[in-house]
Amino acid sequence: MDRIRVKGGRELGGVVQISGSKNAALPILAAVLMVDGVVRLKNVPRLTDIDNLLRILQLLGVRSHRAANGDLELEAVDKTIRDAPYDLVRTMRASFVVLGPLWARRGTGRVSYPGGCVIGHRPVDLHIKGLRAIGARIDQNDGYLTASGPVRGGVVYLGGHQGCTVLGTANVVMAATLAKGKTWIEHAAMEPEVQDLCHFLNACGAKISGIGSHCLVVEGVDRLHGCEWTVIPDRIEAGTFLCGAVATNSNVTVAGIRPDHMWCVIDRLQAAGAQLEVGDTWVRNVPTRHGRITSVDITTLPYPGFPTDLQAQFMALMARADGVSVITEKVYPERFIHASELVRLGARIRREGPSAIIEGTEQLTGAPVMASDLRASAGLVVAGLVARGQTEVRRVYHIDRGYERIEQKLQHIGADIERVSEG
Ligand code: EPU
Repeated sequence: MDRIRVKGGRELGGVVQISGSKNAALPILAAVLMVDGVVRLKNVPRLTDIDNLLRILQLLGVRSHRAANGDLELEAVDKTIRDAPYDLVRTMRASFVVLGPLWARRGTGRVSYPGGCVIGHRPVDLHIKGLRAIGARIDQNDGYLTASGPVRGGVVYLGGHQGCTVLGTANVVMAATLAKGKTWIEHAAMEPEVQDLCHFLNACGAKISGIGSHCLVVEGVDRLHGCEWTVIPDRIEAGTFLCGAVATNSNVTVAGIRPDHMWCVIDRLQAAGAQLEVGDTWVRNVPTRHGRITSVDITTLPYPGFPTDLQAQFMALMARADGVSVITEKVYPERFIHASELVRLGARIRREGPSAIIEGTEQLTGAPVMASDLRASAGLVVAGLVARGQTEVRRVYHIDRGYERIEQKLQHIGADIERVSEG
């Protein structure tokens, strides 16, 4: 198992090029199941989550090929397979998003019910409610969910006691594109990744309006055709590097991004005293003379609120801020495993229900730490960049799920970081 070793305290400098968005690419790849013809995707990141979904799609009859320039070409060549078995789906929760496309294009979709998740309780009741509302008959047997029957369309209220659901919206909107009638999805997620999926589907001939709002209107069409599409940049990867730049008080430009997808993150960093210059496709952190940041509070919320996927990285930043900050997790109230690992580096953090209270300290000290999930690992790397001495992040496979060559990108801007392979 690989580890990442980082020696903290170095000032960074330079330009980091951000990759395509993992969470936009995943549902777009699933949508290929519904398309008749070839889809050419640009800016799909090279990540293990992407490889895992491609493997699942291959077993569902999708042929894919990565060209020398990185473009991914895909085509659903066998449209008779309707089952996504447990052994495949358990490798990645997000693969549950194949259910809507399988049902809509192949008449029936059978997908293993996703199991537990380290970041907290992650039910799929809203996916089921949404698919039912547009005509699906849902059966649950032997740990599998089967969606069958005609896709009729209808009115869907996709809320519950929680906020919106990103992949639930993706599942319903995809199926609705091939419905016999019209669908109104109320309380739809408006994350940039959902918007990108909808724009992609429209490029394939779907008729979706209201994109970027909480109400999506979908007029069913008979078929979807192939297209060429460029996946949006990864706002979470961008935010992670910005946290690293601010934490180390470094002159770093995060490039190839959509700053308009991350106003909340930019706002919170500026509130903490970061000097950020914002361009059309980049954000630059300008070092300050004193090099200190101030504690600010954040509450994670659905878009356009502060993303839960940047909570751990922001907590690492707050660990060295002046003052006390309160981080409240409203999307996954249990997503705090990284807090105990940050404490091993000298951070002063205590939990109070869905909140963490962080008392900033001037110095963190390197130590071996354990990555528990993708974003927790990213938070530990950010902390390692400023901790005195050496931090060794174990179970790096988590980070490879969502960050393309993170140690190489950090080396490129001057970090003292390396990947250590074992066995
Ligand atoms: N929820 C329900 N019922 C459902 C679905 C969700 O109650 O049927 C609840 C969840 O328990 C959670 C909230 O709704 O409290 C939001 O969950 P959502 O469904 O939006 O999450 P997701 O679609 O499964 C995606 C991302 C996550 C990201 C969340 C929230 C992908 C592949 N995953 O998950 O990304 O944290 O949205 O923004 O898009 C990551 O990249 O590290 C990651 C975990």
